[in-house]
Amino acid sequence: MAEVDGVGVPVDEPLLRCTDVNISFAQRGKAERLHAVRDASLEVGSADIVGLVGESGSGKSTLARAIVGLQRIDSGAIEFQGRPFGRTRTAEDRRGIQMIFQDPFGSLDPRMKIRSALAEIIRRHTPLRGKQIDARCAELMDMVQLPRSILSSRPAGMSGGQRQRVAIARALSINPRLLVADEPVAALDVSVQAGIVNLLSDLRRDVGLSILFISHDLSIVRTLCDSVNVIYRGDIVESRPCAELFDDPRSDYTRTLLSAIPRLNGPRTEGLAQGQSLGARRR
Ligand SMILES: Nc1ncnc2c1ncn2[C@@H]1O[C@H](COP(=O)(O)OP(=O)(O)O)[C@@H](O)[C@H]1O
Ligand SMILES: [Mg+2]
Repeated sequence: MAEVDGVGVPVDEPLLRCTDVNISFAQRGKAERLHAVRDASLEVGSADIVGLVGESGSGKSTLARAIVGLQRIDSGAIEFQGRPFGRTRTAEDRRGIQMIFQDPFGSLDPRMKIRSALAEIIRRHTPLRGKQIDARCAELMDMVQLPRSILSSRPAGMSGGQRQRVAIARALSINPRLLVADEPVAALDVSVQAGIVNLLSDLRRDVGLSILFISHDLSIVRTLCDSVNVIYRGDIVESRPCAELFDDPRSDYTRTLLSAIPRLNGPRTEGLAQGQSLGARRR
């Protein structure tokens, strides 16, 4: 039998493996389907931070939604903890992958105090009760580096950065092994972005969290990720360790993305705004 880790995952298997995943959508008034993701393969190992980067509309969120089980795939396979999952995904595997989004408001009830929102999830998904839940809420605030007093506030009164930290606490509350972070800093001020990026890095170090970090911004990916997958029009065109990719990009598309990174102290170059097409920049 293969050697397994503490939760029964074969040690030589990645935590998450997508193989040749295809996802298409029907288009209104057209016979042809829109191929949002084409033969996409990627892997995330235990305590790895893996980037998925590409311009707006390239299929990042569609693939992310498939990984967390919110989007049906046409073909290919998604395996988590060494087990294929589709419709037969177990509750434990579902809990093992959590997602955060660009807009943390989407996952937070604006009227509910943070303590109540977290307690509800903890009660639903873990055996903790009573005082244990209070202790867990306090521990989660520590993990996301927020003052415990935040537990008594509501999302409406919080800053964007605080809300994203609460969304991360919410995702962590049921002990996932993999966090799928879909553009988690895209809506935040640059000064706040670094704090969230550092937090994700700390979480990997402190609790061994694996992260699939989705971004349209290669400069952020560079500071955080071990490896990067570059996606262009649904195709993963390059999949490399971060250092290699930045030193020696192989695909033309990656080179174009790199040229859009503003350089510190260098000549001023335009950053690539979300929604801005690289195709348009080249013209
Ligand atoms: N539910 C859907 N129905 C139809 N088309 C969709 C749907 N979701 C995404 N798409 C299309 O799939 C493509 C990829 O979208 P998306 O995955 O959201 O890109 P990204 O996250 O990289 O910006 C886009 O052309 C988008 O319009
Ligand atoms: Mg998206």
